[in-house]
Amino acid sequence: MIALSSLVLLISVIAAESKTFRNRHGPPPIKVPIGRTSSPVWANITQRVDHFNPVDKRTWTMRYVYNGECFKSGGPIFLTLGGEWTISTVDLMAGTFYDIACENGGYMFNTEHRYYGESQPTRTCQPMNVTTPGRAFFFNTIADAFAGLVQYAVPGEIESVCFQIENATGSNVEKIAPYVRTQYVDSSCMVLYNDFIDQHSSPNITLDMNRQWYYQICTEFGWLQTSTSTNQPFGNTFPLELYYQLCKDLFGVEYDEEVLSVGVERTNAFNGADTPEISRLISVHGSVDPWHPVGLLKDLHSTALGFVVQGSSHCADLNSASDIDSEQIKQTKLTIRTTIAKWLDEIKDGTSSGTTLRISIVIILTTTLLHLMYNF
Ligand SMILES: *[C@@H]1O[C@H](CO)[C@@H](O)[C@H](O)[C@H]1NC(C)=O
Ligand SMILES: *[C@@H]1O[C@H](CO)[C@@H](O)[C@H](O)[C@H]1NC(C)=O
Ligand SMILES: *[C@@H]1O[C@H](CO)[C@@H](O)[C@H](O)[C@H]1NC(C)=O
Ligand SMILES: *[C@@H]1O[C@H](CO)[C@@H](O)[C@H](O)[C@H]1NC(C)=O
Repeated sequence: MIALSSLVLLISVIAAESKTFRNRHGPPPIKVPIGRTSSPVWANITQRVDHFNPVDKRTWTMRYVYNGECFKSGGPIFLTLGGEWTISTVDLMAGTFYDIACENGGYMFNTEHRYYGESQPTRTCQPMNVTTPGRAFFFNTIADAFAGLVQYAVPGEIESVCFQIENATGSNVEKIAPYVRTQYVDSSCMVLYNDFIDQHSSPNITLDMNRQWYYQICTEFGWLQTSTSTNQPFGNTFPLELYYQLCKDLFGVEYDEEVLSVGVERTNAFNGADTPEISRLISVHGSVDPWHPVGLLKDLHSTALGFVVQGSSHCADLNSASDIDSEQIKQTKLTIRTTIAKWLDEIKDGTSSGTTLRISIVIILTTTLLHLMYNF
């Protein structure tokens, strides 16, 4: 057995909204260096279906991957949690997480979030019901091409697309169309509202994440992208009501506005909202990332740190340090590494203030969502 003095938890979360809206979902785009030989191992762990109900003894099998290639005896565990995607071995082969784990002689684990990928506690979802706010959905799908661009933009990419659109000929609609079309190459038509509902109506589990993701946003955290702001070019074509309708059409009329708002309140109450009682937390955000406003953007106290990296996008901190990183990303990655190494030393030496803790937890949240801690 591995003697572990600490547990390092790295939560990398991408939020998003739909595979039709494919740009906003999927695992962090980690690049594995050519020629790297690393062999993470697949495994299963038995989990309780309900951790909060002592009389419910049902269990299920959750998938995870581990990699012990950098482990040194007595070292910590580094754990990265999957989001709304099917996990792969890549997160344990490269990137900031891999680098920090290796620098600190850690054992690496990557768990698959329940209800996503092949980690399904049950083999069915509830049935549903259908109606048609097609226009709102259509405009939301067009806006998604741009939301996805911004979410993962490398410096200069947004400007380049704007230039491409402005430099095109024809009416405004004709100028925008070619770019939008490049985002939907895999089908000749965009998915419309009714098709979307039909495609996600089946209670059967598939590797597509939409139904599970919508269930979470409809009952637990909202986090909906609407056209409510006046500071955007789509008018008020996809208001909040689109999502109220979607929730009802996907899961049943009882999944209404009230369920959503009470669900969000409960999630915040349970997790501490933007002032969670937590220590040894590093929360990292990019100023260009549209998801960042819901994150922990500033330090809560001396061991709960918040970073907003100017000019960077979603998950920009997750790739290994590189010469092409901006100065701000370089600086942030360096601060993260030295802070984690320092905390691990404090835990090892017993000099930290929380020495009575048998297990000390260091958490990094990228694009925050404490919610995913339910995964355990
Ligand atoms: C994990 O469990 C699944 C389902 O029970 C099984 O198909 C798979 O082979 C298991 N994987 C490992 C590595 O044991
Ligand atoms: C959909 O909801 C309506 C309104 O509550 C209900 O009458 C109808 O039976 C439902 N249809 C299905 C297929 O569940
Ligand atoms: C702008 O459009 C013109 C005409 O279609 C084309 O020849 C030119 O290459 C475009 N410029 C850039 C930088 O894409
Ligand atoms: C769901 O699964 C059942 C059992 O395998 C199958 O009979 C049914 O056709 C599936 N439904 C859909 C919509 O895929």
